[in-house]
Amino acid sequence: MFHRIAPVGNPISWRHSSPPPTLVAREERCLLLNSGTAALAAALEIASEYANLPKPEVIMPGYACPDIISAAVFAGLTPVLVDITPQHPYMSLQEISAVINHNTVAILALNFLGIPERIENIRQLIGEKKIVLIEDSAQWFPDTNPVSSSFSTDMVVLSFGKGKPVSLPGGGALLIRNSELNNHIKTYSSEKLSFFDRLKLRAIPPLYNCLISPLLYWLLESMPGSKLGETHYDVLDDISTMNSIQGKHLAENIRRYQQRDQTTQLAIKEVLDTFPEKVYDLPSHCNSYNGQRLLRYPVLLPTAASRETVLAELINAGAGASPFYPSVLPSITGVAEHIVCHSALPHATDFAARLITLPTHTNVTNRHIFALKSALKDSQGQPA
Ligand SMILES: Cc1ncc(COP(=O)(O)O)c(C=O)c1O
Repeated sequence: MFHRIAPVGNPISWRHSSPPPTLVAREERCLLLNSGTAALAAALEIASEYANLPKPEVIMPGYACPDIISAAVFAGLTPVLVDITPQHPYMSLQEISAVINHNTVAILALNFLGIPERIENIRQLIGEKKIVLIEDSAQWFPDTNPVSSSFSTDMVVLSFGKGKPVSLPGGGALLIRNSELNNHIKTYSSEKLSFFDRLKLRAIPPLYNCLISPLLYWLLESMPGSKLGETHYDVLDDISTMNSIQGKHLAENIRRYQQRDQTTQLAIKEVLDTFPEKVYDLPSHCNSYNGQRLLRYPVLLPTAASRETVLAELINAGAGASPFYPSVLPSITGVAEHIVCHSALPHATDFAARLITLPTHTNVTNRHIFALKSALKDSQGQPA
């Protein structure tokens, strides 16, 4: 009970010795903002300004973080949800094609924990239409410098929230790769920080690093009112520039993440390869995955029931397994009133019920890898 690891949890580094990060190439633009949600809202504002239509819509996947809905609502766009393809995190190309219309100003492609979307196929659907393609990479951070060279969309969203690849107490970035959009970039004011905000920002990193350590994580889990791992729809109130305290620490946290080795990820893969009939190794079945570093290792169990059994065993072992987002977006309280969804989302619903993410961070040890082996050995069933 007293030795448990978190599903995600790279410690926050509070040193600022590294040179400034190279996020974009010379001809590109970058906005450092107060959160990933704010960065996505800024991207959608730009897309909307660029298309200049009275009822702008953005196409998004039906299984994702509800923050993407908050961003669209803030920017004044209607989110139009589409299903994913069976057993993959990719948006259905048929559904995208069916919902593109004269109001579509943007398509949001999610990078699913390190598995990129099929950007080229989506581009083909867009053709010559004035639709902006945005990659939401809140859950993945590449190793390249400039960071933008790992992407091929018009804009890219990054998040620096707690539990993200590059962890800070908060923050996000919008990388604008397509120079045609530059005239539509708004100017945002800086976040106003009170004395207590500054104190809090300085206190969070050491406290967070202690609480995500294996010896104290159980305490965080058992705190009354702890909302760990819960997914909520939260309204976005404001876009502002990233505060200077977080900005100073960005470079060092990027450097550390880019240098992290992939030992744990490889050890997990070795276990998964031993049980191909019991677990569906998602990255290995996705053509767009090419060995990228995974923030969490996503796998599908054969049925919802076997997912619950394996998850319970791993949680009991304190091994940091998580169900990730609990359900499709329309089922999350507060979302339904903001969206248009013509699809029943059968594949996204199935995906949500069978998914488990396994931790890949630095606190994973052989004990946790062994717990995974044991849970899979005990489980039943054939992957669909
Ligand atoms: C896919 C995705 N987009 C956007 C966000 C929002 O990022 P932030 O928490 O920095 O606002 C998240 C947050 O988890 C996310 O998972």
